[in-house]
Amino acid sequence: MTLDDMKKAAAKAALEHVTAGTIVGVGTGSTANHFIDLLAGIKGRIDGAVASSVATANRLKKHGIEVIDLNMVDALSIYVDGADEATRYLHLIKGGGGALTREKIVAAMAKKFVCIVDESKMVDVLGTFPLPIEVIPMARSFIARHLVKNLGGEPVYREGAITDNGNVILDVYGLSIMEPVKLETELNQLTGVVTNGLFARRGPDVLIVSGKDGIKTLT
Ligand code: A5P
Repeated sequence: MTLDDMKKAAAKAALEHVTAGTIVGVGTGSTANHFIDLLAGIKGRIDGAVASSVATANRLKKHGIEVIDLNMVDALSIYVDGADEATRYLHLIKGGGGALTREKIVAAMAKKFVCIVDESKMVDVLGTFPLPIEVIPMARSFIARHLVKNLGGEPVYREGAITDNGNVILDVYGLSIMEPVKLETELNQLTGVVTNGLFARRGPDVLIVSGKDGIKTLT
């Protein structure tokens, strides 16, 4: 079983959480792409989807799934997305694909956040995967200097990457994140930070982990 097979199996398990007649929030990345492709099979039973990135919106539309502006939606039953790292305490690092801010907005609005990962994403402590931070372009160096001085990690500018919101990303290497809720909150207080890739304050309600031995569901 390849990693891609595992991602697909996780996506298939998430489909069971989708309720007919509701709007579905959809994440970004290769695992979320499997979910989109499977969602296409039941598109007649849902009322449409909210996308967490332009890439996801395009893939949904290609399948003929109606993409609805989040501002037009007053309730979102579910949000399904992947992650770059996850712990058994349902804390995540996301944003490897650069869509962290929109992902966090859709996750915040959803009644149920279902995260789908293959087993390679599971860690005891977050931080081996560099933590993405979306920043306003003019604040990039200011934030980077602050992080070096106060955080101990090494921020690296993601060259050439512009987010869907027109901002840039710093990837912070070398962290060992013992208190994800605290760090997420502190980073978001820095002027110039749009948001960071820790999903700990609003982590998933359900974490589906797909491995060689099958599917595990953590809640
Ligand atoms: C996108 O910005 C990310 O948060 C993705 O959800 C995350 O990078 C997982 O992507 P893969 O499913 O491609 O590993």
